[in-house]
Amino acid sequence: MGSVFQINEVTKEKSGIERLTLTDFRNYPFLRFEPHFGPVVITGENGSGKTNILEAISFLTPGRGLRGAKLSDIKRITPALQTEDQIVVNKPFSWAVNACILKNGETYELATAAQKNLHEDEEENRTFERRIVQIDNEKVSTQAELGKYFSAIWVTPSMDRIFTGGPQPRRSFLDRIVYTFDLEHAKRTAVFEHLYKEWYRLLKSGKADNMWLSTIEEQMAQTGVAIAAARREVVARLNTFITNDPDDVFPDLSLNLNGKIEQLLDTKPAIDVEDEYLSLLYQGRKKVSNGESVEGVNHTDFEVYYKTKQMPANLCSTGEQKSLLLSIILAQTKCQILDKGFAPVLLLDEVTTHLDDQKRDALLSKICDLNLQAFITSTEPQNFKTIEKQTQFFSIKNAHIKEK
Ligand SMILES: Nc1ncnc2c1ncn2[C@@H]1O[C@H](COP(=O)(O)OP(=O)(O)O)[C@@H](O)[C@H]1O
Ligand SMILES: [Mg+2]
Repeated sequence: MGSVFQINEVTKEKSGIERLTLTDFRNYPFLRFEPHFGPVVITGENGSGKTNILEAISFLTPGRGLRGAKLSDIKRITPALQTEDQIVVNKPFSWAVNACILKNGETYELATAAQKNLHEDEEENRTFERRIVQIDNEKVSTQAELGKYFSAIWVTPSMDRIFTGGPQPRRSFLDRIVYTFDLEHAKRTAVFEHLYKEWYRLLKSGKADNMWLSTIEEQMAQTGVAIAAARREVVARLNTFITNDPDDVFPDLSLNLNGKIEQLLDTKPAIDVEDEYLSLLYQGRKKVSNGESVEGVNHTDFEVYYKTKQMPANLCSTGEQKSLLLSIILAQTKCQILDKGFAPVLLLDEVTTHLDDQKRDALLSKICDLNLQAFITSTEPQNFKTIEKQTQFFSIKNAHIKEK
């Protein structure tokens, strides 16, 4: 734990949420609360809205939040009989999250909302939604701007299965880690996804124009190599950190990128890898038409290896997998504090599931040591006895929150 001193030098200046307000967000018509800057435990029955609060906070970062939700699913669905608010107001936003945050002791106002826009070519009231972001009451053009002021790292129950099954969730997990180090990465991955869809659609349509395909392929190769390079940098950074500063409770591990483009960057300069990617895509045209997949950064796997046990993560027990995940999260949190100079907020949804008592208590005490804000949901408040003094407890009932 050699870095704790350096970390505490950063975290003595508070970063996180001072006041959070939700409007028409999931099960909340209106919710406002003021958490403190330490562990914040949120309890309540199943379905009371604990995860919804963490999801709202996750929308203060770029992307689709911790559920990867569709914007239209988030607006509060009102019971059929209570239609008054639909009649009375025509709000410009279908839902909103507002937060007064601190970054190293300085205050900022962040806001995000789904804005209703009218389809231009429609006379009827058909609308589509877009997520807009404001910082200190000024609209900003990209969600990536949020990353300059606020950062959140989350662990959700669906991540308990991240090491088993296909690579897609692991790749997204990695890309989210990369965003927090490199704000441009969110834009890159979105651009690549868009280009790939367009390329695929053109090839499938059978009406693709050669010039147009080449233009898209060039942009894909360029963006793809930038994605691979950013992933490599962050994985190397985390591996070095874990080797030099291993955790005393959570498993030691090594991280590996298994992807064609990332591996090519081991042996060649980026400019040559771009050329190679371009020819892969050119050859891939036929593959797409035949329904085969084409190698590239959208197939990369993020592999985790439990060093002491000499075991790949997918063969570890459920509890071990959870501990490996938390090892990565702890390393990411510490690296990020050291690199960015401000603390992220942790969003830990039912995080104690699958952990034995010793690991659970160790995790909680590490969160206290890091001296940052952590929102932890649980149905069992007795799990937090060991950190009771440092913790603020809230309970949720009927879409209202109350400090205990
Ligand atoms: N758009 C929505 N409008 C109203 N309620 C919603 C919406 N989306 C989800 N919910 C409800 O939110 C409730 C709480 O969800 P959640 O936060 O996941 O609960 P938990 O406390 O178990 O984590 C669920 O009962 C769900 O039906
Ligand atoms: Mg939940």
